[in-house]
Amino acid sequence: MSTQAQRHRFIVVANRLPCQRAADAWRSSPGGLVSALSPVAQRHGGAWVGWSGVADDETEPEQQSDMALIPVRLSADEVESHYEGFANSTIWPLYHDHVVAPQFKRSWWEAHQRVNRRFAEEVAASAAPDALVWVHDYQLQLVPGLVRSMRSDVRLGYFSHIPFPPVELFAQLPWRTEVLSGILGADVIGFQRQADVENFIAACTRILGVDPREDGTIVGAYPVSVDSEHIGTLAKSAVRDGAPSRIRSELGDPETVLLGIDRLDHTKGILERLLAVEELFDDGTLDPATTRFVQIAVPSREAIPAYRQLRADVERTVGRINGKFGGLGGASIHYLHREYPFDDVVKWYLTADVLLATSLRDGMNLVAKEYVAARRGRGGVLVLSEFAGAADELTEALIVNPHDRDALKDAIAEAVATEAASAHSRIEAMATTVADHSLCRWATRFLDDLEAAVHETPGALPRLSALQ
Ligand code: G6P
Repeated sequence: MSTQAQRHRFIVVANRLPCQRAADAWRSSPGGLVSALSPVAQRHGGAWVGWSGVADDETEPEQQSDMALIPVRLSADEVESHYEGFANSTIWPLYHDHVVAPQFKRSWWEAHQRVNRRFAEEVAASAAPDALVWVHDYQLQLVPGLVRSMRSDVRLGYFSHIPFPPVELFAQLPWRTEVLSGILGADVIGFQRQADVENFIAACTRILGVDPREDGTIVGAYPVSVDSEHIGTLAKSAVRDGAPSRIRSELGDPETVLLGIDRLDHTKGILERLLAVEELFDDGTLDPATTRFVQIAVPSREAIPAYRQLRADVERTVGRINGKFGGLGGASIHYLHREYPFDDVVKWYLTADVLLATSLRDGMNLVAKEYVAARRGRGGVLVLSEFAGAADELTEALIVNPHDRDALKDAIAEAVATEAASAHSRIEAMATTVADHSLCRWATRFLDDLEAAVHETPGALPRLSALQ
């Protein structure tokens, strides 16, 4: 596909386009990355290079209101070997502490290199002189190095939305040298947490014998956030409309509503959470007649066997718990295997007395930040995994080790018993943190560092912040 006719000064590169083709229209794609970045790309104009989410899709580039969409085509074989294989069955589990065993397959690596090269060629063809190029996430780690070899003029940023693992785990990757060299093509390399920065530097030092900061590369923590103003507006209108009390009454007016909202992924700790709630019902700490646990599990990566197995395990567990504790008045666990539009997600946040964001490992966990933003002025309790990036900032949450069943049970019980005044003040403190470290500030910080990075023709490009 040819995009050379139009050159862009700001290019976001991500595995997925911010929209998917559904019948004859585009619709928003799921995922934290997309929800984090589309407003930024829209505000600054420019282009978004990504996959449409459909194999063999021949869709042509399209100019949307503020942003050009530049699709990168993936064949059905490449979806299997690059996306489901290398990205989500090798890197994803390896970077999330072996939450399932990563698989190392040479044919997947071949496809992964081919697809990353295709992305890089699209960027090289679409970037205006001195453009800013911001590459996102683990599916595209080779892209910075490849673009750098094709276009020495552009400034390149790379941001990882997921954790970077300890060197002892990373070193297992047979293609560790190539992956590190790919990332090191960027001028600014960002991670969610300081711990990820340290892991990355340790990997570069141990495996490549270099500390990238010594040649001027910026490597830093840029914790991603949410648009709390927008969430606040949605929350106000949902409350005005009476949605939370309506949903509560549909749930049978329980005393307590617990909520989990996650992609159906091993990293999210859904099974561990269900087992903790089951034991709390078993030992009488929670009353199944007056408690409702709503678990929204957004379908994800369903062609991958490990994800299908997880779904079967979760659904069997929900069935067992409801079989044991459900009454005529309804089930204690409401399991919803579907995706909701974001304004409905906010209604769920407003209904939930307690949010369980108890991932086994998570780059950030934007759901936790969305919850506190929606609950501002309304109270509510956040139970948050210490292994989610958000735990660095949301220190007033009930922070828990989700691998420790007793600790998880204690945290859930404490959350249910929390006094309203304490819940209010904790939510207020966390909502202030989220509002002060907004999505917009995250993007601005990263882009400011990128604009300042090693560029030889300052002034060639107006500051992006000035383009708003
Ligand atoms: C995580 C990743 C994103 C990804 C999203 C949805 O948030 O960091 O890069 O887009 O999950 O996963 P999917 O495989 O459906 O794109």
